[in-house]
Amino acid sequence: MCGIVGYTGINSVGDILLRGLKRLEYRGYDSAGVAIVENDGIYLQKTKGRIRDLDEDEFPYGNVGIGHTRWATHGKPCDENSHPFYDCAGEFAVVHNGIIDNFVTIKEELTKKGHEFTSETDSEVIAHLIEDNYDDDLVATVQKVVTKLKGSYAICVLQKNSHRILIARNQSPLVIGVGVDENLVASDVPALLDYTNEVKYLEDGDVAEICSNEVRIWDSLGNAVERETVEIDWDLEDAEKGGYEHYMLKEIYEQPKAIHDSLLGRLFEFNDVDFKRYDTSFIRIISCGTSYHAALVGKYIIEEIAKIPCTVELASEYRYSSPSDLLPFTILISQSGETADTIVAAKEAKLRGCKTLAITNVINSSITREVNEVIYTQAGPEIGVAATKTFTTQLIVLYLIALELGLNNNKLLREDAQEYRSELRRLPRYVKVLLDRSEQIRKVCKKLVEADDIFFVGRNINYPVALEGALKLKEIAYIHSAGYPAGELKHGPFALLTESTPVVAILVKDHTFEKMLGNIGEIAARGSPIIAVGDHDKELKKLSDELITIPSVPPMFSPILVNVVLQLLAYYTAYELDCSIDKPRNLAKSVTVE
Ligand code: M6R
Repeated sequence: MCGIVGYTGINSVGDILLRGLKRLEYRGYDSAGVAIVENDGIYLQKTKGRIRDLDEDEFPYGNVGIGHTRWATHGKPCDENSHPFYDCAGEFAVVHNGIIDNFVTIKEELTKKGHEFTSETDSEVIAHLIEDNYDDDLVATVQKVVTKLKGSYAICVLQKNSHRILIARNQSPLVIGVGVDENLVASDVPALLDYTNEVKYLEDGDVAEICSNEVRIWDSLGNAVERETVEIDWDLEDAEKGGYEHYMLKEIYEQPKAIHDSLLGRLFEFNDVDFKRYDTSFIRIISCGTSYHAALVGKYIIEEIAKIPCTVELASEYRYSSPSDLLPFTILISQSGETADTIVAAKEAKLRGCKTLAITNVINSSITREVNEVIYTQAGPEIGVAATKTFTTQLIVLYLIALELGLNNNKLLREDAQEYRSELRRLPRYVKVLLDRSEQIRKVCKKLVEADDIFFVGRNINYPVALEGALKLKEIAYIHSAGYPAGELKHGPFALLTESTPVVAILVKDHTFEKMLGNIGEIAARGSPIIAVGDHDKELKKLSDELITIPSVPPMFSPILVNVVLQLLAYYTAYELDCSIDKPRNLAKSVTVE
């Protein structure tokens, strides 16, 4: 899970590579490097650390080059393991995203033939394989080399004395940016938008040759193919911070618009998928991380609104589960659409005979090619590693799906659907109300910054929201936190409660409220500070040290509002602790390895 950028054209390439890499830094940021074709060779500079650690003044003038920002998979972050990699003779330079599963065998074979390796990475074998197989035709060589690779890859190859870039992809994203007298390649669209908004997405198995005025593509069988040129309507400003100190804060504040956009054109007529074509009597949702928490909330939504049984699985576990005769309609949720675990799960579900639907935020992302149907959330680009507005819009899509399914199977009355729709329409306004109270929420963070351990508790539909609140705090504030169903604390975790263990408790006025109050009383009796989030209540106010209220909505919609409060709690806590909010340590925005 790294970032790749490449350029060939009439302009000086150094600045273009750096600019592109900075836009991709969210994909990985433990080392960076560039390769530029110069006079009679290829100049290479790479370093452990951030892109800013590269010394641009040292770059030679050149018009073709490739760059890479890394998130370590094989081999620790260090200069030697940074990309690009040379072959032995320094004739080729290669950058790679993904994982080469059979690299150990390849490395052994090449070592026997006399190749010397300089890194611990799987990626370096690609440069040496190219050298070993080169027969004066780089296109044919790359086509041959990729047949020897097992695993996932997005690859760019430079050759000395050449103005073209050879690229190949399999299960790792790679996009060509089509320009005038220049063409680019990148692992993700934001790196291209400074230069063009016309892109071509490669398919798995494709190899392409990119010259300044021509792009040629071959499929996995070696047939010359055309890939459609798609116009991207995100402008660059969308992908930048827009005056906020962090992308995460900007993205939290974008939620009213994101909800509105995700509802647009869908509230009264949902045409994204014709569910009547499928058996939806049993549903399974599969995903990872925050998307998994959205799936857990989705289970409650679908079971309550559409009265359809629904199970939820972690994508990384699903493929190891035993197949059964039951073939649930399977929904895969992935904001990036590039999460390897979720893509593998989509393939596995298809293999087992299930019909599949992906909910993703990224148009034409890899997962969209693995499923029968796709629904796009309309959150706009999310750059902060912490998922915020994409979680919210995933829930919006799940509400819309539940309404559609409930109406289709006659389990939902038209008037009730109408009520739900009205509530959905009000949500952007309610989120705005909460955002306007951010200063109050910020003050509460003082109670969290000192803690080493924090519990998040909720029941029913707000139990997964507690999980999500805990994940967000761990991820960006580096405070150990755990989400629990409130009724479970007394079965063990109570032993950890002390006066310095804050508990963030979610209480909305649903059928669990009385029980939750009881749980809060038990926690208060152990002296733990209680930060309650939810509906206003006198008794709750008495029991809790802080109460952050949300606008009054039917409990079914409370996850969206409660979660906004938890996002702000995590953000301001991380801010107080001076953490790297948009790029938390050891993490990357899309996890393209299993
Ligand atoms: O792109 P995806 O939704 O498939 O990503 C899944 C997780 O990696 C992701 O939600 C991760 O947990 C977030 N960084 C959490 O904020």
